[in-house]
Amino acid sequence: MAFPKNFLWGGALAANQCEGAYNSYGKGLSQQDVMPKGVRGPVTELPTNDNLKLVGTDFYHRYKEDIHLLSEMGFKVFRFSIAWSRIFPNGDDLIPNEEGLIFYDNVINECLKNNIEPLITLSHYEIPLHLCKKFDGFKSREVIDYFVRYAETVIRRYHDRVKYWLTFNEINVTLISPLLGAGVMTEKSKVTEQDKFQTAHHQLVASAKVTEIAKGINSNLMIGCMAASAPRYPMTCHPKDMITMMESQQELDYFIHVHCEGKYPYFAKRMWEQNNVKLDITSEDERVLQNTVDFISFSYYSSKVVAYNENEYTMANGNIMRGLKNPYVDYSDYNYPIDPEGLRYILNYLYDHFHKPLFVAENGIGAKEELVEINNEIMIVDDYRIDFHKKHIQAMEDAINEGVDIIGYTTWAPIDCVSAASAELSKRYGFVYVDRNDDGSGSLNRYKKKSFEWYKKLIESNGMEK
Ligand code: BG6
Repeated sequence: MAFPKNFLWGGALAANQCEGAYNSYGKGLSQQDVMPKGVRGPVTELPTNDNLKLVGTDFYHRYKEDIHLLSEMGFKVFRFSIAWSRIFPNGDDLIPNEEGLIFYDNVINECLKNNIEPLITLSHYEIPLHLCKKFDGFKSREVIDYFVRYAETVIRRYHDRVKYWLTFNEINVTLISPLLGAGVMTEKSKVTEQDKFQTAHHQLVASAKVTEIAKGINSNLMIGCMAASAPRYPMTCHPKDMITMMESQQELDYFIHVHCEGKYPYFAKRMWEQNNVKLDITSEDERVLQNTVDFISFSYYSSKVVAYNENEYTMANGNIMRGLKNPYVDYSDYNYPIDPEGLRYILNYLYDHFHKPLFVAENGIGAKEELVEINNEIMIVDDYRIDFHKKHIQAMEDAINEGVDIIGYTTWAPIDCVSAASAELSKRYGFVYVDRNDDGSGSLNRYKKKSFEWYKKLIESNGMEK
């Protein structure tokens, strides 16, 4: 069996990592504008020039050129996010910024003109800075209503042209980085487990509320959740490692279960007890949570190895989700594990557990790259990227052949952009190279890499020609 006829091949980007124009056209600041070094660095009082996200890759001004490149590759879908603070600059404004709405009108229309289905992430690690400062982001319940107001505004505006929506990018990352995932400004060491779980609860309620409203606006919309889905592997078959693996896996399942079943799973009670958490859940929250999603989307970069006694082992590198070093897999330039079979495993796992259609919303390899001139052509020979995607797409095909329902695959990121974890440009994921360096220099010109033609052929053959 091959990929379904209407399979959605494409790629994904996030507003704060590519748009730039951080304080123009009515946009307010978000927490990203004061995180110049990503999750690893300090938060600054005001935006600083060393923050590459302020200009990004200038998608704001070059969206036509970029969408044209995606269309040349034959994209069926383009996943991008809306910058909430471009629509509501402070988050709690009463009236949206029309200029921001027009910008996304244009992006959507450009996609449609090129026969590309837009898939919108409502919140991709980006919350208006004012809400982060005033309410500590989603730690406060009040922010649910502001998010719902924003989401309703954009869904009403675009629902006739955009069918697929995701609520929060990698919602489970809130437990790892509450600042990145939920705009919590309190210093990380002072954020308690109680705070993290309550913050995540507010996001889960907000996500379900938006699903309820979206379906009321247009019952044909397809609403998905999105989680960072590294499958957990035990370091050994020691029973204690197995239990550690199970509990670590449940940290992911917790989020997907609420989205798919409309309530917390049975093991939530144990998680809360272990973390000394007393969740404030109102009866209205319980009602709202019953608005479940239509599909599960997730990012997959690699599997994650865990052990009962982690100190006995070496850590592997990774962006936000890091595990122990796995001796059985390959490693990238950045020393991140590469494990295509883990994708087949998590696809089966999620389908077994939740029985909903799946969407691989992110998958990619970051590498340091430099333009070279070959036969008068400036390019990047990124065979490792071709190899990476080839193997992951094969894993997806294997899962489809076993009966797993997969509706789409968007690579991270089809065009180079600023990294989320470390806010650098030199870690590149694209099929298209953007001439911008870590010191901010560069023409911002776009160049096709070798993988560009490869992905184009792959899409053309609906996944047959790998
Ligand atoms: C995912 C995020 O976790 O990983 C993206 O949703 C991010 O925003 C991607 O860019 C790759 O991570 P990084 O840190 O290498 O950019």
